[in-house]
This record gives sequence, C-alpha cells and structure tokens, in this order.
Amino acid sequence: MVYESQHPLVKHKLAILRDKATQPIQFRQLVGEIGALMCYEACSDLPTRTITIETPMESSEQQELDTKVGLVPILRAGLGMVDAMWQMIPNAEVWHVGMYRDEETLQPVYYYDKFSAEPTIDVALLLDPMLATGGSAAACVDRLKQWGVKRIKFIGLIAAPEGIAAMQSLHPDVDIYVAAIDSHLNSIGYIVPGLGDAGDRQFGTA
Ligand code: PRP
Ligand code: URA
Repeated sequence: MVYESQHPLVKHKLAILRDKATQPIQFRQLVGEIGALMCYEACSDLPTRTITIETPMESSEQQELDTKVGLVPILRAGLGMVDAMWQMIPNAEVWHVGMYRDEETLQPVYYYDKFSAEPTIDVALLLDPMLATGGSAAACVDRLKQWGVKRIKFIGLIAAPEGIAAMQSLHPDVDIYVAAIDSHLNSIGYIVPGLGDAGDRQFGTA
C-alpha cells in the first residue's frame, strides 16, 4: 500500500521545506512537523485494547495502544523525524540504523546498527525523509526482517516513483506513507523537484 498525503497542512509545510531559501533551523522544525503528521496517518490501523479507567465522574472503558512500536530512523536524515513522533508515541523504542548512499554507484552502504539478539518491537516505523532509488530503505527493511520484526511501515516525506517501485517489488508487505510523490530522479539520483540533500539541509553541512 502506498499512501500519499493530500492534507493541506502537509502541502503547505512541504512547500516551505522544499524552498532553497529555507534555512536549517526552520528545515529541521518542518521535518519534525511533517513527520509527525505522517506518523499520525501511518498509525491509523494500529491495534488497541480496551482498558477501564476512572474519570472524575465514573469508571469508563477506553482504548490504549496494544502494540510495541519502534521508531527506526535511518542516519543521518531520518533523525530529524524522531523527536516529534516520539512525543506522540512516548513509550516507543528508538532503534538507529546507519546507511549512506555511495555517490558514484548510488548503492546503499550499511554502517551501523545495534539491535538486540531478539526483536523487542511488534511494528517498526522506518524513518527517512527521502525515498530516491529505494536502495537504502530496502536494505534497512532487509535488516529489520533479519532481526525478526514482523510488521514494518516506511514513513518518508518525499518519494520518487523509482523508489516506490523498487520497494514494492522487493518488499510488497511494507506499507509506504509519504507526504509527496515527485516526478522523477535526475541523472545523479536526486529527486526532482525534491528538496536537495535532506541530511545536509538539516545539519547545515551542504
Ligand atoms: C539520503 C536519504 C536516504 C537516501 C535515499 O541519505 O536520507 O537515506 O539518501 O536514497 P536512496 O533511496 O537512493 O537509497 P544519504 O546517503 O545522503 O546519507 P546522509 O543522510 O547520511 O547524508
Ligand atoms: N537523498 C537526498 O537527500 N535527496 C535526494 O533527492 C535523494 C537522496
């Protein structure tokens, strides 16, 4: 399943994010805000269980999340999506994966994770603002599946059609939630119109 947001707030914030005049401080703020809005959509089918609580008026049957959520940011750029999502799901675990794209070959290079022996989460929300060729996300999904995670959702900000096609072919069981699906990749693997380099723009390293 591929979900592309049609929400006016998301579209408005995305336009500011894409603007090359937007500076890192506002860029980071927007990555978090749009990430949180996408998280809200991606969590809409998570299971809940009935609990009984006491309001000041009476006992009342209410719902609480019945699944252990893991936020899995892909370093570096996915880091900017964590804090705003963590505020919405405060008991989520955060597991980091390190991945960069070789600039010549565009192939993903996996360089970090520190997973426990057994998986401790039921659902992984894999976070990266950019889904370009899809190589990085697909390789992280491979690793999450190897760890033993049963349910994985990818949450991004901007995707290229090429990246979506690659993910759907390699991991059809992974739902994809993005703020926008753009036109295409250019000759050096950047998303067009895109926003440039999401890591550099967040961390001021352009
Ligand atoms: C960017 C982005 C994704 C990847 C997407 O990371 O954050 O992880 O590229 O490209 P792909 O879909 O073609 O694999 P980058 O390699 O620039 O690393 P960084 O975040 O550490 O700068
Ligand atoms: N990574 C980015 O940060 N931007 C792109 O357009 C493609 C990959």
